[in-house]
Amino acid sequence: MSSKWTPDSWRAKPIVQVPEYSDQDALKDAEGRLASYPPLVFAGEARKLKKQLADVAEGRGFLLQGGDCAESFAEHHPDHIRDFFRVFLQMAVVLTYGAKQPVVKVGRIAGQFAKPRSAPTEKQGDVELPSYRGDIINEIDFEAVAREPDPRRMLMAYRQSAATLNLLRAFASGGFANLDHVHQWTLGFVNDGAMGARYKDLADRISESLDFMRACGVDPESAPQLRSTDFFTSHEALLLGYEEALTRVDSTSGEWYATSGHMIWIGDRTRQLDHAHVEFFRGIKNPIGMKCGPSLEPDDLIRLIDALNPENEAGRLTLIARFGADKVFDHLPALVRAVEREGRKVVWSCDPMHGNVIKASTGFKTRPFDRILKEVEAFFAVHRAEGTHAGGIHVEMTGKNVTECTGGAKAITDEDLSDRYHTHCDPRLNADQALELAFLISENLKSERDTRLAINA
Ligand code: TRP
Ligand code: MN
Repeated sequence: MSSKWTPDSWRAKPIVQVPEYSDQDALKDAEGRLASYPPLVFAGEARKLKKQLADVAEGRGFLLQGGDCAESFAEHHPDHIRDFFRVFLQMAVVLTYGAKQPVVKVGRIAGQFAKPRSAPTEKQGDVELPSYRGDIINEIDFEAVAREPDPRRMLMAYRQSAATLNLLRAFASGGFANLDHVHQWTLGFVNDGAMGARYKDLADRISESLDFMRACGVDPESAPQLRSTDFFTSHEALLLGYEEALTRVDSTSGEWYATSGHMIWIGDRTRQLDHAHVEFFRGIKNPIGMKCGPSLEPDDLIRLIDALNPENEAGRLTLIARFGADKVFDHLPALVRAVEREGRKVVWSCDPMHGNVIKASTGFKTRPFDRILKEVEAFFAVHRAEGTHAGGIHVEMTGKNVTECTGGAKAITDEDLSDRYHTHCDPRLNADQALELAFLISENLKSERDTRLAINA
């Protein structure tokens, strides 16, 4: 593990979950072009995010990370990005208000194109084709040409990421995220439901506070914190050829950064200690995440932390727990205790989505909303019991009025799933469900804070 790292040292290691490109010349060509293109993010931004996450690791603040399971080339409409961002800002406001702590905002967006799959091929009837691996690799249509991995798709993913990021930057700092607009983020279809009413109540209180502060001489015109927000991007860095091509030396520090996004994470299926993904991740300086599923043993976790964060730098590593609602108590306490025993600084985040996929009676792949809530509650309960900080949430969500996860305040049933089931990959929370989840987390954060204040009193 301690041998010399280079952006391509991962190529000498075993690797899983990558496509086999039949045209190696085209692959070299695409990677070469990418390597000559501008970085999508700047190293200084990644350092800023790491600093914010360091505060979360120390118990101050909460990480909100969310977006589509997989972005798609077909769906690159500005309204899609805008509506996601509206719901995301609403969640952030709800959490900031409840926790009375800063919320670190990280989208699963502008680069979330590659998907690990449970099987390398998919069979329909007698026909067997390569599995769909995300738009950066192949096409979702079940046809031989579509499923052939095409390296030129990396260039399209790069350009789409650049355009998406450009709009998000404009939203975050150009006035859209101004707290004076806290009411306007609500989407029409959310407005008429229980969550719309609950959000309006909170937004009213924020407006009133802003009016009060304006009377005192502080307003969004004079205080930039009130009219803009820091928004960062993240994705699963699965396709290492793409990542390598966008890995650059930062001229101010002389260190290597992945410039495909501010934060990248390793999936639960690719975190083998001696494999390519861990090798790549150990050499870049960005804040990184690692998914932790039921197969992860405490000793292995510590070895992985040694490899990925040898200097025990707070903010460097976020552990994203994803066990399934019924398995949190079986696995999470031992991992948390191992980390505490070894004195490792990490952010603990909860992914309540990926361990809770079931097949609905109508055949759709879905996630019951009550299981998602249950996993989040269990995550908070474990951290309460261990005296550690429940530091974040990682969700798959959209601003679209989809019916992909069952349940929630508007009670989507198995039969409803067929109405508006649009995901390219996994079922996502719709805006109502995302808000409901934010309120639940906000209550938990409030009680964590009350407990702390009582102890310190
Ligand atoms: N800048 C602060 C923050 O990002 C306050 C803020 C401005 C904010 N716009 C926001 C918070 C939108 C949440 C959502 O926390
Ligand atoms: Mn997913």
